[in-house]
Amino acid sequence: MQKELLDIINRLLNIILFLVAILIVLPFLIVYRVEINQFFKSKEKVEMNVTDVVSIMPTETYWTAADINSIKDEVLKSQVLYGKDLITHTSKYFGPKGSVMKISNGMNCQNCHLDAGTKTFGNNYGSVASLYPKFRPRSGSVENIYKRVNDCIERSLNGKALDTLGKEMQAIKAYITFIGSNVKKGEKAKGSGLKELAYLNRAASPIQGKAIYVIKCQSCHQANGEGTLNLTGTEYTYPPLWGNNSYNDGAGLYRVSNFAKYVKYNMPFGASYDHTQLTDEESWDLAAYINAQPRPHKNTPKDWPDISKKPVDHPFGPFADTFSITQHKFGPFQPIADAQKKANSK
Ligand code: HEC
Ligand code: HEC
Repeated sequence: MQKELLDIINRLLNIILFLVAILIVLPFLIVYRVEINQFFKSKEKVEMNVTDVVSIMPTETYWTAADINSIKDEVLKSQVLYGKDLITHTSKYFGPKGSVMKISNGMNCQNCHLDAGTKTFGNNYGSVASLYPKFRPRSGSVENIYKRVNDCIERSLNGKALDTLGKEMQAIKAYITFIGSNVKKGEKAKGSGLKELAYLNRAASPIQGKAIYVIKCQSCHQANGEGTLNLTGTEYTYPPLWGNNSYNDGAGLYRVSNFAKYVKYNMPFGASYDHTQLTDEESWDLAAYINAQPRPHKNTPKDWPDISKKPVDHPFGPFADTFSITQHKFGPFQPIADAQKKANSK
């Protein structure tokens, strides 16, 4: 009997304790409810702001190549893959030990068009399918992809033009056209080609360029600038920057602005537009030094038929202005650009 009574008292005590606890907490709950609600709401707000910021932030989406694995047609796919191999290992097919023809200096397209012409600002082919055929002032004519590819073969590869109907040219065209097929016709792909670089306010200096070359480039491209071949001599491990097997003086890289833009965002090997390793000055000075070294000559009397359209750093006369050949080669370029602008606005 007594035990039962104690039990009941115990339970009653428990209930009372529970009620007291609620009584103590209740006012707090009421007072802070508003704040608790606000707390959750403000959290929501913060999250919204984060997504807002993300969408406003310069999430520049650069072009990436269309995916070859998505090609259903097996014939087209193998043609595109052959084209890619021709870009990547050009020398194996067309170099001094080429299996198809011996028509080039042994460089690969990929040496200058990095990652088979797909690297952001690595001189990629993103805007070729969308913008060609196009008018090019260098030739003063409308050029198709064949003409543009043969231009690089004759100049950058210091070689002989390919037959446009041949299997190899067709494959190269198929590859370039396919990887750029995701760009709207007439539009320029973001991150394609080379990235702009501001002019220096002085002439680029071959002497300072040499000093940087020794520190930052020579280990791969060698003291004589001639690079190194692989063990079988079929391809370069490190391509030449000057000498008999390098690009000739009609090539795009022979213009110091192109060279500076290329190396600034791509060299030493491994550098990229968002992880550069050279200052602007170093890039221009390297361009001056390397393009002052000996290399094959190409006669290009028909280039820039309208001389007023010559780029400021085209180092061959006649010029539409009175600046010297040396200034056209090494700069400073801003005064030439200003003079051109003035003349063209007349
Ligand atoms: C020595 C470096 C070098 C090599 C090797 C080279 N190119 Fe080029 N190529 C360039 C440069 C630099 C440009 C851009 C020139 C300019 O804008 O004036 C260019 C431009 C092009 C373009 C036009 C790109 C555009 O957006 O207008 C195509 C297509 C092209 N190259 C194809 C090739 C092919 C195919 C090969 C191999 C057979 C090759 N190139 C080898 C340096 C090179
Ligand atoms: C770690 C080795 C390495 C270093 C250091 C290096 N490069 Fe290169 N460079 C390469 C390779 C490899 C390629 C070819 C890339 C490919 O085929 O994918 C190349 C390509 C080039 C090209 C285009 C092809 C040609 O031969 O004309 C230029 C121009 C160039 N390098 C300039 C430079 C300059 C200037 C420096 C110094 C700032 C430099 N490189 C430092 C490895 C290197």
